[in-house]
Amino acid sequence: MSDPSIYPVPAEWAAKAKINAERYDQMYGHALADPGSFWLDQAKRLDWIKRPEIAGDWSFNEQDFHINWFADGKLNVSANCIDRHLKERGDQIAILWEPDSPDEAPRSYTYKQLHAEVCRFANVLKAAGAKKGDRITVYLPMIPEAAFALLACARIGAIHSVVFGGFSPEALAGRITDCDSNIVITADEGRRGGKRVPLKANVDAAAKHVRCLDAVIVVKATGGDVAMQEGRDIWLHEAAAAVPADCPAEPIGAEDPLFLLYTSGSTGKPKGVLHSTGGYLLWVSLTHELVFDYRPGQIYWCAADIGWVTGHSYIVYGPLANGATTLMYEGLPNWPTPSRIWEVVDRHQVEILYTAPTALRALMKEGDEFVTKTSRKSLKLLGTVGEPINPEAWRWYHEVVGEGRCPIVDTWWQTETGGTLISPLPGATALKPGSATKPMFGVDPQIVDGEGVVQDGAVEGNLVIARSWPGQMRTVWGDHDRFFQTYFSTFPGKYFTGDGARRDDDGYYWITGRVDDVINVSGHRMGTAEVESALVLHAKVAEAAVVGYPHDIKGQGIYAYVTLNANCAASEELRSELRQWVRTEIGPIATPDAIQFAPGLPKTRSGKIMRRILRKIAEGDVSPAALGDTSTLADPAVVEDLVANRVG
Ligand code: WTA
Repeated sequence: MSDPSIYPVPAEWAAKAKINAERYDQMYGHALADPGSFWLDQAKRLDWIKRPEIAGDWSFNEQDFHINWFADGKLNVSANCIDRHLKERGDQIAILWEPDSPDEAPRSYTYKQLHAEVCRFANVLKAAGAKKGDRITVYLPMIPEAAFALLACARIGAIHSVVFGGFSPEALAGRITDCDSNIVITADEGRRGGKRVPLKANVDAAAKHVRCLDAVIVVKATGGDVAMQEGRDIWLHEAAAAVPADCPAEPIGAEDPLFLLYTSGSTGKPKGVLHSTGGYLLWVSLTHELVFDYRPGQIYWCAADIGWVTGHSYIVYGPLANGATTLMYEGLPNWPTPSRIWEVVDRHQVEILYTAPTALRALMKEGDEFVTKTSRKSLKLLGTVGEPINPEAWRWYHEVVGEGRCPIVDTWWQTETGGTLISPLPGATALKPGSATKPMFGVDPQIVDGEGVVQDGAVEGNLVIARSWPGQMRTVWGDHDRFFQTYFSTFPGKYFTGDGARRDDDGYYWITGRVDDVINVSGHRMGTAEVESALVLHAKVAEAAVVGYPHDIKGQGIYAYVTLNANCAASEELRSELRQWVRTEIGPIATPDAIQFAPGLPKTRSGKIMRRILRKIAEGDVSPAALGDTSTLADPAVVEDLVANRVG
């Protein structure tokens, strides 16, 4: 009898897809047995100015820690994403843009037009003083200029650092300062769900705390009123009219940085994850083509924001390297109605849709009719990313959205990994709802126990990757030691993902979620330490401890335990004030869902906060078995109070 929880590869996919099961096994085996020849062969998918003769050269050991891929090669990412397509598909649409409001007309750019836009943008950057290796901060809404900006940086070898448009001026200033960025690219305003976001005003506020800024390039997006500072601020459209239309693509070493992107970890401030040029582009191009079985001419939509790594790898670099038509959407999945995402699919005849479980859960809750009243006949393949997908949402995506017709690729990866590491390939892998299934070529996942001992067979434990892959991050900006300590010291000789995973009898991987103090709120990574530091900056807060707890829509919600200073009284007003405080300090995505005022936090006698107990209370699991032995706490009575005054 067939197992109803397994979805076999549909016959037409097995027959027509680029990779079938047999080919997967063969390529997977080749990549591990002879990585040098496998990767030099794969490198041919890119256009090199100087073709590399060495593939991977790396060690995860402390004594000779290094990671290099194709180090003797030279290429340009912008030329790979644009120029090399001009001859064959210059008039094909490269970027298809759907505006926030459905009443507004979409815009599109062919590869030829993209070339012209990016060349002028790159010349504007040069005129503003940008040089190879400079860090350029990009704080833009989801408009085509965001893609132009990234490609323009890549064209001249400048390193872009995109800051999500939902981050506050404080968060923006921190990121500008950390990498000593001399130029910011922003827009007058952003738009999302009919609301305006004052991006330029946020940059002005951030600039007050920053010393390194020379220029601010401003895209006129909404036409909203903004203040322009003489000698610093430049309108993109004015500057673009004054520069030459062509800009040669700079030869860049494969190991030179392409971009950095700040992401949250379990400790300290967000870190600047640095990606390389050659290995990264190869990885995103390969995974985009094979995971989505991408064919030229298909309309492909990754509904992420360019502020996150998914937007970098699978809206811009992967698809454009493959000559795809990539759709960029400015707005929200559920505005003005919960049908919007499906209406966009119909409007543009989208064949491949890639989105996050949190969006699916939110839409699922609204009822099937918002989906079923649309056609969706164009859809062929569905994808998810960002967090574990619960089988219920998976089935809804499969049955209701895809009408049982479209395979789902559940792609597991991280900002640090550059692109997908574990995912089904639609023509090769039978699907199990909730499992990211099998590793990509060259990816060597292992499950280790707390001591780092490798576990065989069907087990659960910590997910590590035992070998380097080309798309791997190369360092933490300005802190190479932190890079090593964060990822390679916990389980020596291996890359530690921070995720837990289970492997089943078929060798399928099931990601169980973070095992560190990172939480995943609506598919966005948040360090509990970051939210805690924001809370304790408030004058009335003495101490704060933040944990994640299960949330129906967001996957995880943010639960904050707050101890107030003496003489400060808890109140509903203070609760809203603290929520607003965190929004201002970090951004709306960090807003605590629940705040519990606590007279004290459970600590060991040596002063360590027992987060395990706080997590259990936040989850509502307050049985003695769940809370465990509390007698070793400095003050066991604290726990009773926390349980009695739990919120939510
Ligand atoms: C989680 C997003 C389960 C995981 C690309 C990881 C997932 C973190 C999946 C990285 C998935 C991402 N199934 N969990 N398919 N994809 N995650 O850096 O915990 O924003 O460590 O990268 O998201 O988040 P990041």
